[in-house]
Amino acid sequence: MRIPKSLAEEVIAASRDFPLEGFVYGNGPVKPAMMLVGEAPGETEIHNGVPFSGRAGKELMAFLEGLGLSREEVYITSAVRSRPYRWGKRNNRDGTVTERKYNRPPTQKEITAHAPILDYELSHVQAPVIVTLGNIGLRRLAGTDYKVGDCHGRFIRTPVRRLQDGAFVWSDRDYLLFPTFHPAAIFYNRSLQEKIAEDQEKLRHFLKTGVSS
Ligand code: URA
Repeated sequence: MRIPKSLAEEVIAASRDFPLEGFVYGNGPVKPAMMLVGEAPGETEIHNGVPFSGRAGKELMAFLEGLGLSREEVYITSAVRSRPYRWGKRNNRDGTVTERKYNRPPTQKEITAHAPILDYELSHVQAPVIVTLGNIGLRRLAGTDYKVGDCHGRFIRTPVRRLQDGAFVWSDRDYLLFPTFHPAAIFYNRSLQEKIAEDQEKLRHFLKTGVSS
């Protein structure tokens, strides 16, 4: 499934004043084993156009492998489809300093500008479960009261937020969400590895049995 090019172009035009670069399409079958919702692409992804193909992607592929799934069997997307960046300084080994772009989390305005894409994907992709990776994807869908640290590893049946006339409203139907940590989170906090493994086991059980309680 791929969103229409015209929709991508509309969103790119609506976000042109934000410090965002590139555009990466979500990727996967219309009826995937599950849908994954991340944060935003990084530098690697905007260069090769493949979601989760950088360092975090390696962790995510290991997570999928543990579930007996390949990239081709899942639908992968994120709250924002362009790379949010900020300028920063890098101290080089030779003593010189260069300016470069660093990844940063997307802002609320950027998430809102890109919302029509995820809304379209949600209404066209038929996934039995939506796995949110980190707080950005979780809050985009379930609302800003949710925190991944508190609700990871639980199945949550809930309406999700979608954009209507510039504001978020709740969907008419429920979706089954399964929040877990963003795969990049372990780079900063190795102790999350155990929690991610527990979440993975619960998801594996669901994929095998269809039981989400
Ligand atoms: N993080 C995301 O959320 N998405 C990507 O594609 C890469 C890193």
